[in-house]
Amino acid sequence: MYFELSEEQEMIRKAARDFAQNELKPGVIERDEHQKFPAEQVKMLAELGFLGMMVDPKYNGSGMDAVSYVLVMEELSKIDASASVVVSVNNSLVCFGLEAYGSEEQKEKYLKPLASGEKIGAFCLSEPEAGSDATSQRTTAIDMGDHYLLNGVKNWITNGTTASTYLVIAQTDKGKGHRGINALIVEKGMEGFTQGPKENKLGIRGSDTCSLMFNDVKVPKENRIGEDGFGFKFAMKTLDGGRIGIAAQALGIAAGAYELALNYSNERKAFGKPLSNHQAIQFKLADMATEIEAARLLCLKAAWLKDQGLPYAQASSMAKLYASQTAMKTTVEAVQIHGGYGFVKEYHVERLMRDAKITQIYEGTSEIQKIVISRELLR
Ligand code: CAA
Repeated sequence: MYFELSEEQEMIRKAARDFAQNELKPGVIERDEHQKFPAEQVKMLAELGFLGMMVDPKYNGSGMDAVSYVLVMEELSKIDASASVVVSVNNSLVCFGLEAYGSEEQKEKYLKPLASGEKIGAFCLSEPEAGSDATSQRTTAIDMGDHYLLNGVKNWITNGTTASTYLVIAQTDKGKGHRGINALIVEKGMEGFTQGPKENKLGIRGSDTCSLMFNDVKVPKENRIGEDGFGFKFAMKTLDGGRIGIAAQALGIAAGAYELALNYSNERKAFGKPLSNHQAIQFKLADMATEIEAARLLCLKAAWLKDQGLPYAQASSMAKLYASQTAMKTTVEAVQIHGGYGFVKEYHVERLMRDAKITQIYEGTSEIQKIVISRELLR
């Protein structure tokens, strides 16, 4: 057992931390308030190589490991979870899926511009009536010989309006259940494909989440990922890695709120001494720090397993479950420590508290993570 990061991993973490402080922090409150997508910042993240972090350099990726991905996600999410979700979805739900299961032609055409960050991708599984119950897809992809005819609606799609490339999960043969589902690469601009308005959300308000509508969209057969009927397993395998990213996002939100609370409790005085001299506050800080460290270890373990080529589905669900609970609990406590100041935007913690909630919902609710974990336990 070895807990040290390599020199390279330390450098990557520092680059992410500096970027978050210098480029994300200045406009984060305004972007949240006006639901403004961090377009300039996403371009800079692409230049840093953070949008295709784990992709092989031969496909324009940075060839970094999953541990580095966790470090970057934590640092970015301490400051701006709306920006970090773009990084997470592009890396683990889009680039990973294409690199692991796409054809050589798909990698050349679609993965390369996504890994370099020239283009942004979206992962489209959720529907108005199929969120947790992912096999109940109503979107249909009917086999027409040389193409699929795609019809239906997708909901809550991260990068929904800014993406150029969409990985869409759809039902081809209902009679075959999950084995009748396919994953198709859909390009923005294909006839019959439209995007709905940006959702007005509680948190991660800078991220553009919207619905997608497919009306007789002709998707060429060569845009199907993997064999016929592989779509559901494609989605599940991709989400296994995605959950490491969201777990690290939750970790970052918690760590960001904790750091703010720690600093505030040293500065602010009450009853003649700094807040941090009161045992009630010390106990809160001790709980927060301990839970954050446990969440960090779960995230790093899941990433390490992935890097070793070992099974990591259960570990990523454990990391996501625990880190998202920690994010929620820690941010609520951070607001409490700040008192009235915690309730106003200038102090950042109220935003982190709002952002924390989505980590218990997307890429599988906490209840879904418990299903995944317990199935592995009982297998
Ligand atoms: N890896 C590989 N295969 C898997 C798998 C995995 N992790 N999980 C399931 N499978 C396989 C099973 O082995 C089974 O295959 P066989 O029949 O060949 O054995 C098949 O898939 C069906 O599995 P289940 O019977 O377990 O399927 P289920 O209907 O009971 O569902 C579930 C399982 C875990 C609940 C799943 O539906 C799930 O994860 N739901 C949540 C979906 C989700 O995370 N949605 C979030 C949307 S994405 C998002 O939020 C993106 C964003 O924009 C941020």
